[in-house]
Amino acid sequence: MKHLTLIIVALSMLATLVISCSSKKQDSVEQNGNNSKVLVCYFSATGTTEKAAKRIAELTGGKLHNIEPAELYTDADLDWRDSLSRSYVEMHNRTFRPALKDSVTDMSDYSVVFIGYPNWWNTHPTIINTFIEANDLKGKTIVPFMTSGGSNIINSEQELHEAYPTLNIAKGLLMNGVSDAEIKAWISGIGI
Ligand SMILES: Cc1cc2nc3c(=O)[nH]c(=O)nc-3n(C[C@H](O)[C@H](O)[C@H](O)COP(=O)(O)O)c2cc1C
Repeated sequence: MKHLTLIIVALSMLATLVISCSSKKQDSVEQNGNNSKVLVCYFSATGTTEKAAKRIAELTGGKLHNIEPAELYTDADLDWRDSLSRSYVEMHNRTFRPALKDSVTDMSDYSVVFIGYPNWWNTHPTIINTFIEANDLKGKTIVPFMTSGGSNIINSEQELHEAYPTLNIAKGLLMNGVSDAEIKAWISGIGI
């Protein structure tokens, strides 16, 4: 009788273990559709896009990567009303390429690369061009996302398609005020 009780206890422990392992596997598949390896890159001057990037990383199981400029932007640099400010000067010469802190990022492990940024003058900051041109993104799915004071992502997406016609650029998302459900629907629409 004692042996029978021990066997029943052991079997129920084994069953619990098997069920918890299979539900963990199910979770990660749900988080990340077909299990593509995801890198969530972002440039954020004042922290808003960083928060958006963290939400995407959480929902996709992706790894975060901060696109850091060699020289951080100060408040004075970000004064869009001042035609002599750094951001104004950089953005009014679209061939300008601000230097990155890390000139190259190892992306060999990743098939999906999200790239997030704030809207500056109704498009992406030129450091995003520096980042795209410095790295080998061929064959990967590039997914833009943006935060803004109200402008949308459409013009930035169009400029990215025009500047990098050989890259596979998926539909982007303006992350202002979006719910987790909206982020999930966007991600699953892309087929990640
Ligand atoms: C230099 C500069 C230019 C901006 N231009 C725009 C713009 O054209 N349209 C807009 O909606 N928001 C604009 N914004 C607001 C930012 O896009 C918004 O605050 C964004 O969420 C900031 O993201 P961050 O905190 O990750 O840097 C601008 C902000 C700065 C600093």
